[in-house]
Amino acid sequence: TFILGIEGTAWNLSAAIVTETEVIAEVTETYKPETGGIHPREAAQHHAKYAASVIKRLLAEAKKKGVQPSEIDGIAFSQGPGLGPCLRTVATAARMLSISLGVPLIGVNHCIAHIEVGIWRTPAKDPVVLYVSGANSQVISYMGGRYRVFGETLDIGLGNALDKFARKAGLPHPGGPKIEAYAKNATKYIPLPYVIKGMDLSFSGLSTAASEALKKAPLEDVCYSYQETAFAMVVEVAERALAHTGKKEILLAGGVGANARLREMLNEMCEARGAKFYVPEKRFMGDNGTMIAYTGLLMYKSGITLSLEESRVNPNFRTDDVEVTWIKEEEM
Ligand code: ATP
Ligand code: FE2
Repeated sequence: TFILGIEGTAWNLSAAIVTETEVIAEVTETYKPETGGIHPREAAQHHAKYAASVIKRLLAEAKKKGVQPSEIDGIAFSQGPGLGPCLRTVATAARMLSISLGVPLIGVNHCIAHIEVGIWRTPAKDPVVLYVSGANSQVISYMGGRYRVFGETLDIGLGNALDKFARKAGLPHPGGPKIEAYAKNATKYIPLPYVIKGMDLSFSGLSTAASEALKKAPLEDVCYSYQETAFAMVVEVAERALAHTGKKEILLAGGVGANARLREMLNEMCEARGAKFYVPEKRFMGDNGTMIAYTGLLMYKSGITLSLEESRVNPNFRTDDVEVTWIKEEEM
């Protein structure tokens, strides 16, 4: 089976062709805002500008590997959650490809794609997933036919919280990697608000408090303290989900997962609990076309496709809205 998938929920336009076992090709064009954060309309214009050339280059690379457009079985696209204008641009490109190749559309939930690509590219089988990206922060696990959200942010995603603080500190976007670099040269921990409500998290107060702390403390110390506080929060919720589900694996997903300190803290927690800790290769952690294509392939093989009428995008598409038809529990 060959599935072509297109990701474009936010800043990255990325398309890939995959089989059950292999990434045949992937082509990416990244939108980089000149100032500040992501402007949804500008990002959508970027995706519209590059959609045709990305697909053309993807098909050319696939041909080099002996895969012809006529062999593609379906077109997967990121149906949500994400920025409305970006989602609509990518869905339009997907519909055009589906019509011109005469193959079905598959609407993929972006968050689930982060999970599935991680399970594909690591030995994880039935993990508790810590999914931390720009817009999303969730602790997720499969249970009874769905990916259940055990805990999530009540306000902004961890990546956006880090980026927001970084902007206030005068650092360029995206701020996450810059904060990580400054944190390495810290000398002191400054207490910041640690906010967990039940199993849910809140980052916006922490972000504001960190910005305030900059008036009195060096940037390095604030970056370090911000990371220690925010990461301890997500690790705590992930640990509670392990305890609650009795599962023995943690899978890290999403762009913030690139952070070495976060990985170290998760690894320590897993070692202490006798759980395994899995992280996919970096190229599969941030937004990428492969994750959409591969999740599309799983859905396609379990009989899930969309008609054009059903292919409307959903900016608020929730992880637990999706019936997971491709997992057979007896095989887990
Ligand atoms: P989603 O649509 O799933 O919310 P996204 O569009 O925000 O994802 P991702 O690539 O998953 O894209 O994540 C980007 C985020 O990851 C940014 O907020 C960025 O600051 C953060 N990030 C990247 N590298 C690091 C790092 N080393 N440490 C902390 N945060 C990081
Ligand atoms: Fe993402």
